[in-house]
Amino acid sequence: MNELPRERLHALLRQMPKAELHMHVEGSLEPELIFRLARRNGVPLPHASVEDLRAAYAFTSLQSFLDIYYAGASVLRQQEDFFEMAWAYFERAAADNVVHAEIFFDPQTHTERGVDMEAVIVGLAHACRRAHAELGISASLILCFLRHLSEDAAMATLEQALPYRDQFIGVGLDSSERGHPPEKFARVFARCRELGLHVVAHAGEEGPPAYIWSALDVLKAERIDHGVRCLEDPALVRRLAAERVPLTVCPMSNVKLRVFDTLAEHKLPALLDAGLCVTLNSDDPAYFGGYLNDNFVAAFDALPQLAAAQAYALARNSFEASFAPPAVKAGWVAALDQTFARLTA
Ligand code: HPA
Ligand code: ZN
Repeated sequence: MNELPRERLHALLRQMPKAELHMHVEGSLEPELIFRLARRNGVPLPHASVEDLRAAYAFTSLQSFLDIYYAGASVLRQQEDFFEMAWAYFERAAADNVVHAEIFFDPQTHTERGVDMEAVIVGLAHACRRAHAELGISASLILCFLRHLSEDAAMATLEQALPYRDQFIGVGLDSSERGHPPEKFARVFARCRELGLHVVAHAGEEGPPAYIWSALDVLKAERIDHGVRCLEDPALVRRLAAERVPLTVCPMSNVKLRVFDTLAEHKLPALLDAGLCVTLNSDDPAYFGGYLNDNFVAAFDALPQLAAAQAYALARNSFEASFAPPAVKAGWVAALDQTFARLTA
């Protein structure tokens, strides 16, 4: 199965069913939609055109990206805006044969500007239901706390979201990592676990391996978002492998934010060789140059060690790592097996 010609490997990468588990819906806001929503909502923009805005997407670090990403999200005001943003993502995801998506949203980015929690969650949840009905994508929401803000602010956000508790399946932790370790959010995550919410956290993107340890031990994170810096700590790698803690890795994001200088230097092969439950994801596709299949194709083209066996492992891991019920996961794996049988024969 490892000797497929390049075009057939590409077809396999594109056509295999897969889950996306690390995608910030605000990061799917394309410049065209930013301009349309800005006009509709009367929000002034610092850029004269879509081209000008795209030209500003030259990042040197996570923070340099976040500044532009939060500015882009400022055009979102009404429930309908949140629906349209998420629906546009689901249409793209369906084209990439994504059959399941657990998408992140950042309510504090909006509630801090005076947008109602209801507009955010109800708009996004409507898009999730429609994605299931019309595109066959099972979709759920994960509420992320902004780690550059205080734990009290996170707790207040959780309370505001609780009337919509049945509209999201879990919580995550994102935004500026350095200087904001997971343990800063110990209490709010404990409360989330009591509420039966799933728990994930960004760790080990720019932050050190110690942040991955504390995401596991203090927050009890069930998945680590990014986590690529685990390779600096062999004991941590052994633990992640033994416990099959998934790492949601985002290759194009890592290059755009300079975690790795080039895709050819990305440590994805080492992560897979270490026996880790790695998945591939797009993170912020409108900002980092591509959606999920673009990430698969670019990573496999840049890293010749990756072949059909690794494609299968990544897709299978994406289902294993999801929060779907076991019987549903088994159905997706059966569909994956059929695709492989057809395209590698
Ligand atoms: N890291 C941290 N916070 C984020 C990211 C990311 O890659 N994308 C959106 N918010
Ligand atoms: Zn992320």
